Amino acid sequence: MDDLRQKYLSAIAEAADEDALEAIRVAAVGKKGEVALKMRELGKMTPDERKTVGPKLNALKDEINAALAAKKAALADAALDERLRGEWLDVTLPARPRPRGTVHPVSQVTEEVAAIFADLGFSVAEGPQIETDWYNFDALNIPPHHPARQEFDTFYMHREAGDNRAPHVLRTHTSPVQIRAMEKTGAPIRVIAPGRVYRSDYDQTHTPMFHQVEGLAIDRDISMANLKWVLEEFCRAYFEVDHVELRFRASHFPFTEPSAEVDLRCSWEGGQLKVGEGDDWMEILGSGMVHPRVLKAAGVDPDRWQGFAFGMGVDRLAMLKYGIPDLRAFFDSDLRWLRHYGFGALQVPTLHGGLSG
Ligand code: DAH
Repeated sequence: MDDLRQKYLSAIAEAADEDALEAIRVAAVGKKGEVALKMRELGKMTPDERKTVGPKLNALKDEINAALAAKKAALADAALDERLRGEWLDVTLPARPRPRGTVHPVSQVTEEVAAIFADLGFSVAEGPQIETDWYNFDALNIPPHHPARQEFDTFYMHREAGDNRAPHVLRTHTSPVQIRAMEKTGAPIRVIAPGRVYRSDYDQTHTPMFHQVEGLAIDRDISMANLKWVLEEFCRAYFEVDHVELRFRASHFPFTEPSAEVDLRCSWEGGQLKVGEGDDWMEILGSGMVHPRVLKAAGVDPDRWQGFAFGMGVDRLAMLKYGIPDLRAFFDSDLRWLRHYGFGALQVPTLHGGLSG
């Protein structure tokens, strides 16, 4: 009886699953199992023998049944543990992966500029980056052989020999969008035109591709005074200061008359830009009253309409406001730079929410 006990208890202890356990049950305490066979032998025993062996056999049967039940429960627990381990879920993890991209400073600043000018009644106009030289130059009062064409370091598109179509260029400035916008809607008009422009130039402050934003306001009686107020308003909003001071310096652009370059009063104490105070002046844009020939080229009657235009560098605006030292890094697509200087997708600039949040 001790041998039986040993055999089945250790078999139960080693059983790997419920099937093995069932096989042991049948072999041990099933109808034709070894314990049942032993019980049948009781009949051949003397009453005294039966009295001692009978209860022992019953006790053995109970012990094996109890061991089977305990092992079955242990196997079920282990199976549940295993499943719980497999299906474990960290409910504290965010439901969506954290966004890893950032909004480029140029995009962010373009949005800021658009928000400010939208508030002043300007809508956004666009034009192609590959322009005809008519839109890029002639219509802006820069005829062929005008010295200003050389100043621009223009990229000309390749032309097959014998192709006599008008030459195309990568636009050197956003000013051709003035012409396209006026052709499209006529006067009065108030638009800004942000976008990419191209010049063959490369150093710490110049890249062959960069960004400008053009402004154009044409109506019956728009003057330089309106230009000055709009630009002051823009600088106050953009640099997020209460006071700014602008200096208009007489200059020359073929597409404006008179023309002015505009400087902003600032200080650079400790390498930190402060707008509206100090003794330095920083050039921020070119501007003027739109030349009558430009209006005419765009189909607007210069005897009835007049207005101002301006153009400024978006990348430079971004460098100034966000303290970014080297322009070339803007276009290197270095993820470390983008993560450092980039903006979150939800940092949408609005005037009421505070431009730079
Ligand atoms: N297009 C000029 C440039 O790229 C900038 C400019 C100057 C634009 C005066 C204007 C303007 O609209 O009136 O250098």
